[in-house]
Amino acid sequence: MEHYLEAGAVAARVLKQGAGLVRPGASIREVVERIEGQVANEGFGLAFPLNISLNEDAAHDTATPGDERTFAPGDVVKVDLGVHSEGYIADTATTVDLGNNGLLCSAARAALEAAIALVRPGVMVGELGGVIQAEIESRGYRPVDNLTGHGLARYQIHTPPNIPNVRMNGGTMLTEGMVFAIEPFASTGRGHVTERSRREIYQQISSKPIRLPKAREIIESVATREGMPFARRWLPGDHPEVPLAVLVRSGILHSYPVLGDLPGSLIAQAEHTLIVTTDGCQVTTR
Ligand code: CO
Repeated sequence: MEHYLEAGAVAARVLKQGAGLVRPGASIREVVERIEGQVANEGFGLAFPLNISLNEDAAHDTATPGDERTFAPGDVVKVDLGVHSEGYIADTATTVDLGNNGLLCSAARAALEAAIALVRPGVMVGELGGVIQAEIESRGYRPVDNLTGHGLARYQIHTPPNIPNVRMNGGTMLTEGMVFAIEPFASTGRGHVTERSRREIYQQISSKPIRLPKAREIIESVATREGMPFARRWLPGDHPEVPLAVLVRSGILHSYPVLGDLPGSLIAQAEHTLIVTTDGCQVTTR
């Protein structure tokens, strides 16, 4: 409990400060490195690489090793941060609006708050999806139906229960002590994301003997991740693409493609981590 709360407090503070760095003209790589560096400075670990996803992209983008992209006026910027203390994870996200999309951003925030207000033992996860969908649709947008909130466990960022962003019948019933993240996404597009070819985030999912020296080097360098995701940007060597592809093909690594809605659409996200209590919940990432 203590670890969950301290990871949450650090994640909340670093995300708030970090969001202030997102300005037109700022380097995406510098912002990512400063936010990730701040987590390390505070003595905590990253549960996953800082996700910065732009405009129609919802999730799983981050800076590339030599990323030259800068934020542009009009960008809708999702910043998603995961901090852990001894493996106990806080996952939180916000959207920085560099354009005129205040209503879109407030739709995601209002959906998150409505869902949090409903959390208590006995509630079904489908009911949380129902209020998320209603808040987003009442503002004229679509909830992303194939992205969900997720349970958190020690060193694991995706465990049951899934928290849907649309109404569902049945599903899991909430019980005291459950720890999970709720993350509504509001979209001006279809409300459905597909996989892009871009892949910057990886995770080790099994261990097998590896012959290729460069691939072995990668696995050795991520051993301290305890199975949590890492970025291509964090790896040693200049061109890890070939060994990474070998490791994915042999089932040792999983790769996370960037997930996006229709080109030209915009997506806003809001996310908090919480613990279910006797009569409600405690949000760790406020
Ligand atoms: Co999350």
